[in-house]
Amino acid sequence: MYTVPKLDDYSPEALDRAAADLLRALENESAALHSESDYKLFRDRWLARKNGVLTQVNDTWLKAAPGPAKREVGQRVNALKAHVEAAIEGVHGQIHASSADAKLAAERLDITLPGIQRPIGVRHPVLRVMDEIVAVFQAMGYSVGEGPEVESDYYNFESLNFPPNHPARDTQDTLFIGGQEAKPARERLLLRTHTSPVQIRTMERQPPPVRIVIPGKVHRNDPLDATHSPVFHQVEGLAVDTNITFCDLKGTLDHAMKALFGSSVKTRFYPSFFPFTEPSADMQVSCIFCGGKGCRKCKFSGWIELLGCGMVDPNVFEFVKENGYDSSKISGFAFGMGVERITMLKYEVEEIQLFYEGDVRFLEQFA
Ligand code: DAH
Repeated sequence: MYTVPKLDDYSPEALDRAAADLLRALENESAALHSESDYKLFRDRWLARKNGVLTQVNDTWLKAAPGPAKREVGQRVNALKAHVEAAIEGVHGQIHASSADAKLAAERLDITLPGIQRPIGVRHPVLRVMDEIVAVFQAMGYSVGEGPEVESDYYNFESLNFPPNHPARDTQDTLFIGGQEAKPARERLLLRTHTSPVQIRTMERQPPPVRIVIPGKVHRNDPLDATHSPVFHQVEGLAVDTNITFCDLKGTLDHAMKALFGSSVKTRFYPSFFPFTEPSADMQVSCIFCGGKGCRKCKFSGWIELLGCGMVDPNVFEFVKENGYDSSKISGFAFGMGVERITMLKYEVEEIQLFYEGDVRFLEQFA
């Protein structure tokens, strides 16, 4: 690093050389500066009153100069000081600008880069199929209703002609809300085991005619296996009017199945039992995998059981008689279907749990 030399020779040539050496050193040092803090050290080294390079020049060159040379040396030293000060000021401007540039460069945003795409979710397959089923009936003029998931024994069972302690209750293993022993049985709360209670709720609210579908969640104390879940979804249907017959039930459901599974699907109705319908039926569709020839999926029968239905039992109308449901004047049909089951058939899903696990690898197939 440059140090101020002692001068023995005070000739103009020697003074020129000494000044040139100093300026060269200044230039070299300033070229090596990169930051504001480098600059401060550099400035102090050259300009500090105590022992800065210029102070040393003053002490070693001017003060030590012999009398006759003092005037000449004084002028040169002053010029040199002015030069050095101006140069250092200029270096400051450059350093400042280049460190600002560096800061800007570091903060640079490349606005031409593609942004982060947040995938927008899609409707869950079960809800999608539920919407689809509802839409098929809406197109036939049905309205859409809902009911509570926490239901009373009265709506879930009694008014649907499941008398207390009737064995038909055993087909729906029910989750009751605890601590209600003090209440009369019909007021006890439970998680609805089917959407059928909304049939009664609808008829209490509205005199006939009725055409309504009711989508919703239902609960049963069933252990989880490949085809059962303790929580699942149903779509209920109810049509009540004068002169509703089993033909209307068959025609309506046959149309709905063709709308859902394609026009080549066939339906058939098999005798069954539900307390709230008489007669009751299980509706089957021709196997959507083999077209009815028989395969593993339909257990080689050619048919797949899909929903329960029937003509509304007059005993059910008794509970809403005051609201215009006189079974000697009106009749109706009802049906209820499991949405997961239909979704599994439509999309060939073999495990019901896949619907509830929230695994994107499964769900993104429906995007
Ligand atoms: N609620 C019945 C169940 O969950 C399904 C059902 C059968 C609904 C016949 C109906 C019906 O409306 O008429 O098993």
